[in-house]
Amino acid sequence: TFMHHHSHKSPLPRYYQLKEIMREKIISGAWKPGDLIPSERELGEQYGISRMTARQAITELVNEGMFYREQGKGTFVSRHKITQQLIRLTGFTEDISARGQAPATRVLNVTMIPADENVAEHLRIRVGLPVLRLQRLRLADDEPLAVERSHLYFIGCEQLVDDDLEHQSLYRLLEAKYGIQLIQAEQELEAGLTNEEDSKLLHLPIGSPALYTRRTTYTNRDQPIEYARSIYSGSKYTFYTHMMRNQ
Ligand code: GLP
Repeated sequence: TFMHHHSHKSPLPRYYQLKEIMREKIISGAWKPGDLIPSERELGEQYGISRMTARQAITELVNEGMFYREQGKGTFVSRHKITQQLIRLTGFTEDISARGQAPATRVLNVTMIPADENVAEHLRIRVGLPVLRLQRLRLADDEPLAVERSHLYFIGCEQLVDDDLEHQSLYRLLEAKYGIQLIQAEQELEAGLTNEEDSKLLHLPIGSPALYTRRTTYTNRDQPIEYARSIYSGSKYTFYTHMMRNQ
C-alpha cells in the first residue's frame, strides 16, 4: 500500500513518499491539528520502511512547520499554519475545514461597481460593465487570516448582493445556487508587507510579512468569473505544491 499511491511513475525516495502521505492526511483532514501522529516505529512497521527513514520524513515536516514535537510526549500536527494546496482548485472554506478548523467570514463590503480597466481585463469584459465587488475578512477558529477582495461577473451576478455571504462559501453558492461550474484557476503569489487597513483587519502590526495572491477563476477554458486579490497573514499560511519533473 505504501508504494501504490505515489511511486507508480516516479522513483521518489521513500522518506519523501512518506512525507507526502502524511501531508495528505493533514490536507484531507484525516489527521487534525493537535493529533498525536504514530511513532517512528509504528510508521516504519505500517509502511515497511526503516525507523531512520520515518524519522527523516517526520523531521522535515517538523522543519516545515506541519508538525511540532513535545518532549517526552511525541509529535503532533501543528495548529498554527494553514496550508493552501495548489493542486486542486479549492476555496477558503474547504482549506480551513480540511484542517479541522471552523471557517468564518465577515463581509466588509458588497456592491455593484463599474469595472475599471484592470478588472475588465482580468474578467475579459468591457470597461464600465457592472461587476460585483465583494470584500471579505476570512477567519479560522475566530482568528483573522486573510482579506479577500473579489470582483465577479456573470449574468445575474447582482443577485449575490442579497445572498448571505457571511455563512456560506462563495464557491459553494456559485455551484449550488447559480449552477456555475468552476473549472480552473490561475494564481500568482507574491511576498509583501501589510498596509494600514489590512493590518487592522488582520490584527497585525503595520508592515507585517504577508502573502499576496491574485486568482482568476474560470468556468471553462476562457470564461473568467472571479478575479480576486487576497492578503494572507505571512506567519499563518503556507502554500504547498507537489511538482513532478517528468511527464
Ligand atoms: C480562495 C480564493 C478566493 C475565493 C475563495 C472562495 O480564498 N483566493 O478567490 O473567493 O477561495 O472561498 P469560499 O468558497 O470559502 O468563499
